[in-house]
Amino acid sequence: MLFDGSEILPSAIWRDPASGELLTGRDALHRAQAAPESLEPNPKRCIDDTAVLLGAVEVPVADLLAAILRRVATEAGWTDGDEAVLTCPAEWGPPRRAILAAAARQAGLGTVAMAAEPIAAAAGLLRRAPSEAPVVVYDFGAGTFDASVVQHTAAGLQVLAGRGLTDVGGLDIDAAVAASIEQVYTGRDRPLWQRLTHPETSVDRRARRQWMQEVRAGKEALSRTASTTMFVPLFDDETVLGREEFEGIARPFIAATVEVTRNAIVDAGFAVRDLAAVLLVGGSSRIPLVATMIHRALDVAPTVVERPELAVAAGSLQVPADA
Ligand SMILES: Nc1ncnc2c1ncn2[C@@H]1O[C@H](COP(=O)(O)OP(=O)(O)OP(=O)(O)O)[C@@H](O)[C@H]1O
Ligand SMILES: [Mg+2]
Repeated sequence: MLFDGSEILPSAIWRDPASGELLTGRDALHRAQAAPESLEPNPKRCIDDTAVLLGAVEVPVADLLAAILRRVATEAGWTDGDEAVLTCPAEWGPPRRAILAAAARQAGLGTVAMAAEPIAAAAGLLRRAPSEAPVVVYDFGAGTFDASVVQHTAAGLQVLAGRGLTDVGGLDIDAAVAASIEQVYTGRDRPLWQRLTHPETSVDRRARRQWMQEVRAGKEALSRTASTTMFVPLFDDETVLGREEFEGIARPFIAATVEVTRNAIVDAGFAVRDLAAVLLVGGSSRIPLVATMIHRALDVAPTVVERPELAVAAGSLQVPADA
């Protein structure tokens, strides 16, 4: 199914100050151009808050999550009697899962099944390639990196060990790419660069959003091409970024993820040779250097799927009971 022509619905929420309506996805991002203070770009990160300030109004977190789930239900043509599986990070305990479940009820989905993201991803893989041996799920997303060791046990698929990095994700790589050209532009006009990095007016905030979108798109293009350009707003300039230079920026982040993966395997009491697979999921695992570095460091060819950012959602259909 598609949301505004894309398989992925950005989880951004924007509250219309006039009507109080909560808009989701691309509509939310679009309206935020004019009123960015009413936007919450990452509701998942607010799971521990009771409410989020959107413009002048505090909105309960469950309302934000319910708005996203309602949008999904609408686009999917949801009818009573349909069943849903929601996935969440493996380390989310009962209180966080309860908030998600409440939001699902609020969105009209009834009682939903809940599955940990790595279990869903592993279930998808193990259905295609059954194995009793453990699988490592390497999930490199936008906000975080998570490595989990998943295996069949008497109680079904279980996460035997998990480790994560909350400061290593695609957004952190974007920030490092943006910082890499700082010297060039502060050299040209320091106050103008300051406006782009620390915007105080709505014009500058808009410029910053556009800049970060350019950086993200430029980075993503480098997974497919050898060189890319990024438009620098306010400076009205174009900067070129090559694959090699980008890899220099991304390498320390990826090295940290490989180390964490190695440690998760040790935590679970295994060695790399015991594993059925190292499964790459999450959009940031598309960076070609990821598979290269894992192969080199662990001496095993990782398992790559065609659309790694959808692997958790697709796999969730293979997890019937709560996991
Ligand atoms: N071709 C690509 N090359 C490099 N990075 C990419 C590519 N495509 C997507 N990404 C990055 O993947 C990230 C989004 O991945 P994903 O959808 O798995 O994250 P998420 O599940 O929303 O985040 P998290 O798991 O951290 O909560 C973004 O940072 C995006 O820039
Ligand atoms: Mg994710």
